[in-house]
Amino acid sequence: MTTPATPPTNQAVPSQDELKAQVGRAALAYVVPGQIVGVGTGSTVNKFIDALASMRDQIPGAVSSSLASTERLQALGIPVLDANEVESLAVYIDGADEIDGKGRMVKGGGAALTREKIVAALARQFVCIADASKQVEVLGRFPLPVEVIPMASQRIVRSFAALGGEAALRMKDGAPLVTDNGQHILDVRGLRITDPLAFETEVSQWPGVVTVGVFAHQRAHVCLLAAPGGVQTLIF
Ligand code: 5RP
Repeated sequence: MTTPATPPTNQAVPSQDELKAQVGRAALAYVVPGQIVGVGTGSTVNKFIDALASMRDQIPGAVSSSLASTERLQALGIPVLDANEVESLAVYIDGADEIDGKGRMVKGGGAALTREKIVAALARQFVCIADASKQVEVLGRFPLPVEVIPMASQRIVRSFAALGGEAALRMKDGAPLVTDNGQHILDVRGLRITDPLAFETEVSQWPGVVTVGVFAHQRAHVCLLAAPGGVQTLIF
């Protein structure tokens, strides 16, 4: 027996934007009143920041992972603290470009991976907010972002080629994109990252690599996944 593939016509399918807003709102349940919250970067996190405005009187502030998120937080009246001012965070909330079944992620599509990893490392819990399109069996479908010191970039391109990857310098307005840290980004296609922890450990040691966008050491503990049926909670 076959079932009809067509969805019921009386139910509006939520837009990608609405799914991001749903998951952004759902993340408020993980914000601990009275505690500073770690805030990531990206279009999904922007929805979370907008929702966080409703809790601004309940938290002392946020530690932010990018200049863009800092600007948005401050515009909504949420104080932003320097990462050096905090010893630890109860929770860090951020999006991902890919997430696997063990909470390991690829991040950096928004070029904020270095600060994201720093803030994630301060947090006791990483809550990933994403839509179901970000779920993968094996990391590597999304081109892997790697922040690099510019003088090392061609050597790093060759090192990825030896692993079967094709690395390209990320461009913006006809020039290499410059990160919040004044460095460049390589996007690496063609990798299949079957052991994310070992891969992250190895690539992180290559001279000139500032941060590799595999988050295995700083994996997610919880993922709030938006799908047309509602927000699912995955615990790793
Ligand atoms: C930024 C990131 C983002 O978390 C990632 O790119 C997902 O972004 P979006 O929510 O816009 O899909 O790692 O560096």
